[in-house]
Amino acid sequence: MKEIKIKGATIPALGLGTFQLENEAAYEMTKAALAERYRHIDTAQIYGNEEGVGRAIQEAPVAREDVFLTTKVFRENLYKKSFMPSVEESLNKLKTDYVDLLLIHWPNANVPVEEYMKELMTAQEKGYARYIGVSNHPTHLLDKVLATGAPIITNQVEYHPLINQEKLLKYLQEHHITLTAYSPIAQGKVMGQETLKKIGEKYGKNEVQVSLRWLMQQDEVLAIPRTSKLDHLKSNINIFDFELTPEEVQQIDRLKAENTRVVNPPFAPQWD
Ligand SMILES: NC(=O)c1ccc[n+]([C@@H]2O[C@H](COP(=O)([O-])OP(=O)(O)OC[C@H]3O[C@@H](n4cnc5c(N)ncnc54)[C@H](OP(=O)(O)O)[C@@H]3O)[C@@H](O)[C@H]2O)c1
Repeated sequence: MKEIKIKGATIPALGLGTFQLENEAAYEMTKAALAERYRHIDTAQIYGNEEGVGRAIQEAPVAREDVFLTTKVFRENLYKKSFMPSVEESLNKLKTDYVDLLLIHWPNANVPVEEYMKELMTAQEKGYARYIGVSNHPTHLLDKVLATGAPIITNQVEYHPLINQEKLLKYLQEHHITLTAYSPIAQGKVMGQETLKKIGEKYGKNEVQVSLRWLMQQDEVLAIPRTSKLDHLKSNINIFDFELTPEEVQQIDRLKAENTRVVNPPFAPQWD
């Protein structure tokens, strides 16, 4: 497993996403993922499955400190009065004293960046989170985040071969912040893509594996594919035994011209 080192943190580059997995499914998939040597699990307050994820981690024959656990503060909890109680509730559900990474899930136009970043830094000072970061923050909001001096280690955003994230990637690399790729297989849309399929045939890999491998070959990029199926769980991590050539990477890079965004709710910020 590739690991990424950033500002003192060591993060397994491939993790398990748990969006849309209800408590019991999240419990089963987290348990199975840990057995398959996944050591990075991504959840969020709004997924409603922190309890299941936490139970699986608590019961697993894997030490808590060997699991990199991320949760995210829901946008309606960014207000000062609800921020810290919501984090305490998350820890309670997750059955742990700390998360490895605490993220601002989405910006909220009604709460100033400075206000929620202050709460996030306080959560870190209290020991609730070893590391902090943001999600769904385009560069104009990252400027404000960085102006607060917060030592963020990641921005979790949509990233896969079919979207153009050139501007954001460049910004993050310049500031030595990782990009955590969510929807790294475009919620399944990479399946059937001809270029990915053809490249995969050479290595005996499918389009999902080629997409994940392409992400893993980029500096300071992590990915958190989600699945509800055991065979997918196994194949999605089976990507560390082949390497795309520079020409294949370039062919995949060109797919970004399609610029397909799969996550774009009405409350999304102005994207880069
Ligand atoms: N910060 C944010 O705002 C945000 C937004 C979206 C997502 N996320 C995080 O990122 C994670 C991943 O993103 P996502 O859930 O949107 O989408 P994704 O991981 O790109 O795609 C998940 C979909 O792909 C399918 N799939 C998985 N492995 C497959 C395989 N090997 N072959 C064929 N199909 C496969 C899954 O179906 P099966 O269940 O049938 O395998 C599921 O329908 C989330 O779970 C969440 O943790 C964060």
